[in-house]
Amino acid sequence: MINKILHISMKVLFKFGDLLSNFFALPDKIRYFEYRKKYHIHESFNFNNLGTLFYGEGEIRCGEGSYIGRYGQVFACKGCKVIIGKHCEISHFVKIYTSNNEADQDMSQKFRKEKTGDVIIGDYCWIGAGVFINAGCKIGDNSVIGANSVVTKDIPAHCIAAGAPAKILKFKSYFDKQNKTDLAG
Ligand SMILES: CC(C)(COP(=O)(O)OP(=O)(O)OC[C@H]1O[C@@H](n2cnc3c(N)ncnc32)[C@H](O)[C@@H]1OP(=O)(O)O)[C@@H](O)C(=O)NCCC(=O)NCCS
Repeated sequence: MINKILHISMKVLFKFGDLLSNFFALPDKIRYFEYRKKYHIHESFNFNNLGTLFYGEGEIRCGEGSYIGRYGQVFACKGCKVIIGKHCEISHFVKIYTSNNEADQDMSQKFRKEKTGDVIIGDYCWIGAGVFINAGCKIGDNSVIGANSVVTKDIPAHCIAAGAPAKILKFKSYFDKQNKTDLAG
């Protein structure tokens, strides 16, 4: 009897917890709905959990079957674009910006110079948790960027890159083999 009561009260508690978390998720869900109207986001693109921000007057395109984890930030300034290809896995806390201050200048000045550039991520990429992608960087198809890396230059397709700044660790073995076979044959 006591077991049954405990079981039922746990069920009620969990249900209440679900309702509460759905309630607190509502502002994020509304924001994601707005992003789908403002930017070019494929219907199958998934905002995988809460806290992600898309902003700026530029263009943001997210491809079929891709997702972004929680607390991502994607900024496309006016005249620039961020493209996330198809079937990409963009993990949690990834930050993508198309404009930054130029570092070598007097920050006390009212008008500051900025560096801007498109960020383009190919298809089938996996961007690890906490990665920062600088303005103007491109990541080729099927490449992986290790957790907490800072991408400061273009990363070619079919490789694994990591670190701050992100450097190529290696090309994927299938690609290496294919290239070696092509060279041999
Ligand atoms: C980049 C990654 C895919 C490499 O995995 P792997 O192919 O198994 O490589 P290894 O762990 O054998 O590491 C290879 C080398 O890269 C280094 N390395 C691996 N990940 C690194 C990272 N994130 N930053 C810097 N260096 C890294 C290792 O220290 C090692 O260096 P060494 O050869 O000098 O010893 C993996 O480490 C990673 O970061 N995965 C992302 C995990 C993540 O974000 N998960 C979130 C959920 S989606």
